[in-house]
Amino acid sequence: MFSESVRCLVVVGAQWGDEGKGKLVDVLAEQATIVARYQGGANAGHTVLVGEEEFILHLIPSGILYPRTRCLLGNGVVVDPWTLAEEMEGLRGRGIDLGGRLGLSKRAHLVMPYHRVLDQAQESSRDSENKIGTTGRGIGPAYRDKVARVGLRVGDLADDQRTREVVEAACHAANGTLERLGDERADPEAAMEQLDSVRAMLLDLATDTGHELRTGLAAGGRVLLEGAQGALLDIDHGTYPYVTSSSTTAGGAAAGVGIGPTLIDEVLGVVKAYTTRVGNGPLPTELTGGEADRLRHLGGEFGATTGRPRRPGWFDANVVRYAGGVNGLTSLAVTKLDVLDSFEEIRLATGYEFEGDAIGPFPDSVELLERVTPVYATHEGWQTSTTGCRSWEELPGQARSYLRRVEAESAVPIRYVSVGAARRETIRLGAGGVGIRT
Ligand code: IMP
Repeated sequence: MFSESVRCLVVVGAQWGDEGKGKLVDVLAEQATIVARYQGGANAGHTVLVGEEEFILHLIPSGILYPRTRCLLGNGVVVDPWTLAEEMEGLRGRGIDLGGRLGLSKRAHLVMPYHRVLDQAQESSRDSENKIGTTGRGIGPAYRDKVARVGLRVGDLADDQRTREVVEAACHAANGTLERLGDERADPEAAMEQLDSVRAMLLDLATDTGHELRTGLAAGGRVLLEGAQGALLDIDHGTYPYVTSSSTTAGGAAAGVGIGPTLIDEVLGVVKAYTTRVGNGPLPTELTGGEADRLRHLGGEFGATTGRPRRPGWFDANVVRYAGGVNGLTSLAVTKLDVLDSFEEIRLATGYEFEGDAIGPFPDSVELLERVTPVYATHEGWQTSTTGCRSWEELPGQARSYLRRVEAESAVPIRYVSVGAARRETIRLGAGGVGIRT
């Protein structure tokens, strides 16, 4: 994927998150000098399999598993310092040397204990109709403080007085809300004390991510910008209000690390060979009953962060076409093809109808998206294992035909097909996509 002409690559989720970005980033990070996260926080959960070892990372990019890659958390990320500390400890405990390989933007905002309390209290106070199904990690409240210009940034920690002022004001405001919601209260002294345990670590990691990336690229380095969640969870382009609180799409990448968009060469969208969503909100191709259970169990569709069962459905080309547009995708990686190995029939949605009429552009209203009827194409299943396949030619004919349809309906060329969790269980295709192949 990286080449003389491709120095800076963005990897995004092109559905509702959990597409397998962690594995793709892990595969591509081998060629990268720097991997940087640009948004989200510890709401994400990347599962990466290296040999027999499974790593679940929430904040640190999976590039950390290569010994020479530098990993950054950009200014667009909201950082829960205690989760970060735990993750660093876990990696060190498994023999991974982090020395000089991890950096954190001084401009990144911190997710404080009172953000988590607020997130959980607000979510439980919503009636079931209106619950977003957040991960409870404090993401929304942390971004709200950032946008309201009252947040605490990594760089602020160097100034004790300033830190105290921000924390006290934030706790005061949080308590105004919490008093209406229940018994929990934000405690500024406890928050200051908790910060004491991580302050030195954070300041030690603090850097200017934009400067590092710009100079790295100018020196001929290769940069991978890693998105979390997916396009349909984007604060602007997703199924609002059932979204996360950041710009998950590729447009957020430049702003989230501090480079100009003209430095980005390619945008790879990661999609599952089917669809899942965790949390509430519309999912037009959602399966129910036995079919849902089958897909969920075959795909191990339980959240890496919260353990919640994911809602499974057929591949929805309407979603991926839309994600292709809002991200400017230059190629696709299709993951978990092997999960479909045993199905007799596989469906994919090519359009939507509402009251008998075809729907044009992807709906911007969740009310409409809840009510559309997907138009399906049905493909014959291959009913044989694809996990051992390492090339396009080795895939069964029905799988190739399904992938050609996925590509044609999504209008983005497929570059990678993943047929298992391990690094080697990946089929690499050329730049032209699968449409040109027999
Ligand atoms: P929040 O990001 O915790 O505020 O949650 C908002 C919505 O985004 C909820 O529907 C979550 O389930 C969803 N979400 C957040 N992070 C992820 C993720 O990494 N994968 C999938 N869904 C996510």
